[in-house]
Amino acid sequence: MQEKFYLTTAIDYVNGKPHIGHAYEKILSDVIIRHKRQLTDKAYMLTGTDEHGVKIQKTAAAKGISPIELCDENFSGFEKAWKELEISYDQIIRTTDEKHKKTVKKIFKKLLENGDIYKHSYTGLYCAGCESFLNAKDLTQDGLCPDHLKKPEEITEENYFFKLTKYKDKIAEYIKSHPDFIKPSIRVNEILNQLENIEDISVSRTKSSVQWGIEVPNDDTQTIYVWIDALSNYITAIGYDSEEPSEQFKELWPADVHVIGKDIIKFHSIYWIAILMSLGLPLPKSIFAHGWITIDQSKMSKSLGNVIAPHDVLTAFNLEKPDAFRYYMASAALSGKDGNYSDEDFKEKVNADLANNIGNLLNRTLNMLVKYFDGELKSDFISDENSKAAILASNTKTQVIECFNRFEVAEAANLIVSFADNINKYVTDSAPWTLAKEGKMLECGRVLYNVLEAMRHIAIMIYPYCPNIAENILTQLNEKADFKYTNLYWGGLKNGKITEKDKIKPVFLRLDSEFATDKKKG
Ligand code: MSP
Repeated sequence: MQEKFYLTTAIDYVNGKPHIGHAYEKILSDVIIRHKRQLTDKAYMLTGTDEHGVKIQKTAAAKGISPIELCDENFSGFEKAWKELEISYDQIIRTTDEKHKKTVKKIFKKLLENGDIYKHSYTGLYCAGCESFLNAKDLTQDGLCPDHLKKPEEITEENYFFKLTKYKDKIAEYIKSHPDFIKPSIRVNEILNQLENIEDISVSRTKSSVQWGIEVPNDDTQTIYVWIDALSNYITAIGYDSEEPSEQFKELWPADVHVIGKDIIKFHSIYWIAILMSLGLPLPKSIFAHGWITIDQSKMSKSLGNVIAPHDVLTAFNLEKPDAFRYYMASAALSGKDGNYSDEDFKEKVNADLANNIGNLLNRTLNMLVKYFDGELKSDFISDENSKAAILASNTKTQVIECFNRFEVAEAANLIVSFADNINKYVTDSAPWTLAKEGKMLECGRVLYNVLEAMRHIAIMIYPYCPNIAENILTQLNEKADFKYTNLYWGGLKNGKITEKDKIKPVFLRLDSEFATDKKKG
């Protein structure tokens, strides 16, 4: 039985355009889901946009347009960016979708009926940037929000509150007894500490402070707090309904992983879990918190003028396909760690790994095959599965799968590249050109077979990062573009004439430094 795999990403705020921080998460998620699809037919990826809240209301007002006009405009910007980056999601949800809004109301009602929501008057320090109340002890020395460096407003409101404290012990117990729940595990203590001081949370705002949101059922003076609205997308998108959940919901839920940034881990591993407990739903199997991407070692910000859109990187480097950018971003940081983007690094990394290492390996081996064997792999070239290259391939495959099970996307890429590195060394050590010169044609042919069969393995394993390059490699090996892991066995490369001189093309052209301009800074 193939297991299903349901992956969700954070849903992006549409009060601006997508930048490479948003892109980082979607690329990581896409690489994971493409890898899972290599193993199962039941892998499903959900992404989306978070469209309610005071920030969107204010941005729209400043532009003189309605909130939904702003949402429509920016949503299409996100959709376009994901298309260009070949993010292969199965579904994209908007929190302004009617179906979502209707179900969020039902969810709110169910929490109320369960006795987990109550009305209460509250005075607190509200940060519009975070869209949440902050504790005085979390502010900077100057009394500012640590994330937005703005003074929070003191607000008194009568709101609905969710009994988070009721679930505190149960959540702590769950986290402790499920070591794979929060990834990477270095985040576990941070969450357990935050749980210690947790209080009930306000889950609505008065309409006078936030108009742009979903109305609380049977109370037109209040809107539902944006986080309840946003988090619920993971279940509303696939047809959750408290009365009659859809077949799709029954098949996909619980999520196998929520991929999110480290800044929103508290909302996912505490608030969301409590809501699910209250609804009586199974809990997600894991929450993977990735790190943050900086630009030239600085935090991306509008005021610094260093916000980069993924499209601008592709344009600046004249890239028709997103493979190099996807590869660079997916390997920019080890699992859960912060990473950095710089033009220089980008060029160096993709030139070294994709052009010099993987690309040249294929190119020179195919050229030798043409030169010595007229492009033909003879049947007696096939080596057995105990050859050094075969063992390396099989070990790499096992380790790559293990990495992905731990959401170690960059680590898996490193393994694939280091496999290619080892095969390059194998070519140098075996010197097939010398074997040919000495007339040892069978030995020479066997070396070439090993290298090309290793290339077939590399194409399949690198596919989630670089789908176009991978397809190009398989085409040049005269193989069809089938990237399933069931094809990863030694000896799969078909013999016979596989290429000729003018069919051999570089799979990735080195990035020329003159392409790098500063037109992407904007
Ligand atoms: N709308 C909320 C998420 C709700 S999920 C139910 C939100 N939106 S966001 O647009 O601010 O961020 C979307 C995702 O992008 C988050 O996971 C966030 O961590 C991630 N990133 C935003 N900037 C980032 C970087 N500079 N680097 C890496 N990821 C970043 O939060």
